[in-house]
Amino acid sequence: MSENILSVKGVHKSFGGVHALKGVDLTIKKGEVHCLAGENGCGKSTIIKVISGVHKPDSGEVELNGKKYTSITPSEAIEAGVQIIYQDFSVFPNLTVMENLAINKALASKKKFINKKEFRRIAEEAVNKINFKVDLDALVEDLPVADKQLIAISRALLADAKLIIMDEPTTTLTKTEVKRLFEIIEDLKEQGVTILFVSHKLDEVYEICDSITIFRNGENVLSCQVSEMDDEKFAYYMTGRKFDSQNIKQNAKAGDSILEVKNLSAPGFDNVNFNLRKGEVLGISGQLGSGRTELSLALFGLLKPYEGSIVVDGKEVNITSPAKAQELGIALVPEDRLTEGLFLSQSIKRNINVTKLDELSSKLGVMNITALTDESKGWVKNIGVKTKDHEYPVQTLSGGNQQKVVLARWLATNPNVLILNAPTVGVDIGAKHDIHTLLRNLANEGRGIIVVSDDVKELVDVCDRVMVMQQGKIINEIASGDLNADMLSQYI
Ligand SMILES: Nc1ncnc2c1ncn2[C@@H]1O[C@H](COP(=O)(O)OP(=O)(O)O)[C@@H](O)[C@H]1O
Ligand SMILES: [Mg+2]
Repeated sequence: MSENILSVKGVHKSFGGVHALKGVDLTIKKGEVHCLAGENGCGKSTIIKVISGVHKPDSGEVELNGKKYTSITPSEAIEAGVQIIYQDFSVFPNLTVMENLAINKALASKKKFINKKEFRRIAEEAVNKINFKVDLDALVEDLPVADKQLIAISRALLADAKLIIMDEPTTTLTKTEVKRLFEIIEDLKEQGVTILFVSHKLDEVYEICDSITIFRNGENVLSCQVSEMDDEKFAYYMTGRKFDSQNIKQNAKAGDSILEVKNLSAPGFDNVNFNLRKGEVLGISGQLGSGRTELSLALFGLLKPYEGSIVVDGKEVNITSPAKAQELGIALVPEDRLTEGLFLSQSIKRNINVTKLDELSSKLGVMNITALTDESKGWVKNIGVKTKDHEYPVQTLSGGNQQKVVLARWLATNPNVLILNAPTVGVDIGAKHDIHTLLRNLANEGRGIIVVSDDVKELVDVCDRVMVMQQGKIINEIASGDLNADMLSQYI
């Protein structure tokens, strides 16, 4: 008996001109939780599809449970116990939970009629395996995303899964749902199921995985135990770049006050005071519901304060709408870029220019197309959006690059005060570093930046000082000299 459940050797795979896998190896021991990490486009999903027989490799071999295959078929993969939880979960939305769970077994049984009792028994057995409480008669389309995922996992177990591969399973989950998923993974591990967990988030790797393989540009660059990993190593192997977060803050010097908030109260927060100076990056942190988001909305005219005052550049102002905020030189990059920020099917160019259209239209109502094009090209280059052409739709970009487009759009309005809500959630480590460096540079140009975030490392890396909010009040302010991860974690 082999101690490895899976051993992939020298797999090559091209799609037309794209050499997606350049001779990769991947070995997973029985019973472990193994992480496959790497930036967007490095070949993670492609190798999974090779292992499950969806893609035929150009060369190389896949060994499952000691048996070698040069070109495994989907049914051989299933027979060997491989089950994949895809990012879309592949559940049938118009069927009930019970039907989704039992359908494969029903089809496989070749009986002409299956009674409902049998369906229910199979479905119950499946959800019980992971202690998943769900209404078996509910339509799957009515369930939250996290539940669809658990249905897919239950279904995999019904098919006698020995190796469950989860492709970026946490992308669309809330923190609580991620926690529940991790408990289930631990539980599966105890039941002897091996897990391949695809992710590019280091905190998740630390929490749930035993060992890790990192891909970069279709090659595997590292395989080791998670206990041998650290942040710097992870960042380096993921991107091939060395990051020095220490250097981001060099040359920071703050000038005159650019935004002063006095005794400000609005629904969600109470009696907030602070002073943002030119050249400064101010962090605002706190848990969900602490009032941090409401505060940023009030500064952008999206929430009406009932008390207190806001002073911009020495003048007291009344920010009644986002248009007014923009006129005063204030920009807000919203928290959820996918729903609030971008028109995904529209071009990068259009997305960058959307807040500028008024300014660039002439009085006669004719738009200056050349100006729009130049402006957008300039930002794509300036901010380092990775794309061949700014005419491509935004949905062709990775998460990190989409976030850069949101930033570019607001920078195109040339704001003096830039407020960012959770600017790097779901963003690759390389793009995250780029965004942090960019924020620092913008501050050095004399702008004031506010970063609303609960990412402790981000706050430490990029902010000059951090205010911590709790139940609508500022409970602490940590100045530059005292700002470190341990200190900050205590308060958040
Ligand atoms: N079916 C396909 N046709 C053409 N190119 C593809 C196909 N699938 C993947 N690719 C390309 O292969 C590379 C690796 O993709 P993928 O395995 O999806 O990366 P990851 O899952 O790590 O983000 C990318 O450049 C991607 O554009
Ligand atoms: Mg993928």
